[in-house]
Amino acid sequence: MTYQEVLENARGAMGPYCKSCPTCNGLACKNTVPGPGAKGIGTGFIRNYQKWQELCVNMDTICENKPVDTSYDFFGKRVDLPVFAAPVGAMTLHYGDKYDDPTYNDILVAACAQAGIAAFTGDGVNPAVMEGAVAAMAKNNGCGVPTVKPWNMELIEQKMALVNTADPIAIAMDIDAAGLPFLKNMQPPAGSKTVAELKQITAWAKKPFILKGIMTVAGAKKALEAGASGIVVSNHGGRVLDQCPATAEVLPAIVDAVGGKMAIFVDGGIRTGMDVFKALALGADAVLIGRPFVNMVYGGGAEGVKVYVEKLKAELSDTMAMCGAHTLADINRSMLFGF
Ligand SMILES: Cc1cc2nc3c(=O)[nH]c(=O)nc-3n(C[C@H](O)[C@H](O)[C@H](O)COP(=O)(O)O)c2cc1C
Repeated sequence: MTYQEVLENARGAMGPYCKSCPTCNGLACKNTVPGPGAKGIGTGFIRNYQKWQELCVNMDTICENKPVDTSYDFFGKRVDLPVFAAPVGAMTLHYGDKYDDPTYNDILVAACAQAGIAAFTGDGVNPAVMEGAVAAMAKNNGCGVPTVKPWNMELIEQKMALVNTADPIAIAMDIDAAGLPFLKNMQPPAGSKTVAELKQITAWAKKPFILKGIMTVAGAKKALEAGASGIVVSNHGGRVLDQCPATAEVLPAIVDAVGGKMAIFVDGGIRTGMDVFKALALGADAVLIGRPFVNMVYGGGAEGVKVYVEKLKAELSDTMAMCGAHTLADINRSMLFGF
């Protein structure tokens, strides 16, 4: 299957909201939540996508002619690409009846491991969601990152004990999830956490702990103080708070503040290997991609994921070669026009 064929297969199989567009840029789904859109007026997703497109790369091929290496050391696990599938949950609510969360995660975790990367998985009010994700990771040598929601401390402790049994590469928390419309007024409650609480959560996670949903320098510094090993600069794809800046806009200042002290990941509107290159040039260590992986699973299962990962790798390799970068460590801001 080609990438286009996977997208076409997905069209019509993704519930009433996702159109499986040729370019997943937030225009067709805009403010559809439930659905894959964004909160409020719906520009958060569109802006994320747009800001990567506004960056241009500097071509320079006067350098040694040798193969490029796109591999990345993810907390001791070498992956083929600095790209991870982002956690996506509440599948039937947002994407119709084809897959529930456990089925989606089961396909995605195995497919990403086989394709040489790793998947983050989401959490849900239903305990079966995290249990299924943990089972999927356990079957795949812990190749994945369970992402626990910021429930009350009692439930977080239980969830941490559960996710530790999968021996995952790392454990994440989407600290911004309290803004999700469908989590409002639900039991158990989910909400903000203090640095002191996050220190306790970091200790419960026996693996590198990643805080997802950081959009300010102050937030990044608090994550560092709490003992997190990494952050995901993310606005949840525009789904938790309207009128945020794009992740590409806030990334450089966050890198300047905490880069080198913790791993910095970024997501939101990253679609191609070219976009991955731009994120790394701004200083990210690696990226997460959300919605397009859903299209790949719905349109082609494990093969769809493989096709997309190969496409990303070819695009990233080509961009690196044309900008004179042979390893990920060679990529820097001078490779972006105007920086
Ligand atoms: C339908 C949907 C469900 C999501 N569910 C979760 C989730 O359960 N946990 C989480 O941390 N992020 C969740 N996200 C956010 C993604 O992990 C990611 O931050 C965002 O989608 C990245 O932007 P992109 O989709 O434009 O690549 C969800 C996103 C979508 C579109």
